[in-house]
Amino acid sequence: MLTSVSGLRIIGWGTALPDRIVTNDELAESLETSDEWITERTGIRERRVGGTTTSLGTAAGAAALASAGITGADIDLVLLATTTSDQLIPATAPAIADALGVAGGAVDLNAACSGFVYGLIMANGLLSTGMRRILLVGAETLSTVTDWTDRSNAMLFGDGAGALVLEATEHGWLRGWDLGADGSALHILRCAHGGTIEMDGKEVFRRAVRVMVDSANNALERAHLTADDVDLIVPHQANIRIIQAACQRLGIDEADAAIVIDRFGNTSSASIPLALVDALDSGRVHPGDTLLLTGFGAGMTWASAVLEWAP
Ligand code: ACO
Repeated sequence: MLTSVSGLRIIGWGTALPDRIVTNDELAESLETSDEWITERTGIRERRVGGTTTSLGTAAGAAALASAGITGADIDLVLLATTTSDQLIPATAPAIADALGVAGGAVDLNAACSGFVYGLIMANGLLSTGMRRILLVGAETLSTVTDWTDRSNAMLFGDGAGALVLEATEHGWLRGWDLGADGSALHILRCAHGGTIEMDGKEVFRRAVRVMVDSANNALERAHLTADDVDLIVPHQANIRIIQAACQRLGIDEADAAIVIDRFGNTSSASIPLALVDALDSGRVHPGDTLLLTGFGAGMTWASAVLEWAP
């Protein structure tokens, strides 16, 4: 029994992706577009399509539990960040919890592409007040809400999932955080019930860079750190040009950014865990490193977290 819990540490991670790869060339067979245009304007070369949010979230969760060396019975809460729950009612988290043998709570949260970082910060609070372990999942099937005939949208989105096992610890890794929302901007990026994603791409782009930079700086300030202290930035993967502009304004070398958008496109709530796990699996994260997770999304919402990757 811990006597003075101060928050989370990360003890396991995993991802899940559909097998089906849709390349830019394949999109160009039915849309008036080209691999060259999409790659140059977005950084996306291909995306994964298929599965359900339940199946992808369950597979990512199972991989995270296995990497932590625990089972679902050791989890007190499944927290699922998603914009594409498999149905309106019920939420998808209970189905994931059931499949993984979790007897604790299960709930979805929707903060669009900021959802995973929102979840991380919320989980830190829960772990500070007595919960032992939380399975935080980001899972999306954006292909189900994509208008595949709209060339200004269809090339952006993909399906996938990532998950972390978070455990209560006396020396929490979350050093700083920032959360925000501006509901007056809901019209620039939305999806009505039964509809497909509609957005004013230029306006989203313009605001995205601004809110990501402001939010990242707020979280760093709360951590009493600066951009110079950041070893790895894990940004939401919406457009490589947004990531480049944000890095430039923050003063962080683009080489220090975790990037998976070329392979997976924009997977909303799943994009930050997919990028983080890719960095972990390729040995880019070392004990003592400072990680900056930062995202923006429909709402608009934004969220940033500064983590110390403690040994
Ligand atoms: N292929 C070829 N031409 C295209 C394509 C395409 N796929 N898409 C648009 N064009 C054309 C346009 O029709 C336009 O032609 P016109 O000048 O004759 O009108 C021209 O290319 C330029 O279009 P822009 O919209 O100005 O292109 P831009 O450089 O702004 O890129 C993009 C568009 C990629 C959508 C960009 O604005 C963007 O990434 N915005 C942010 C999107 C984003 O982050 N969304 C978050 C979603 S998160 C969520 O909640 C799921």
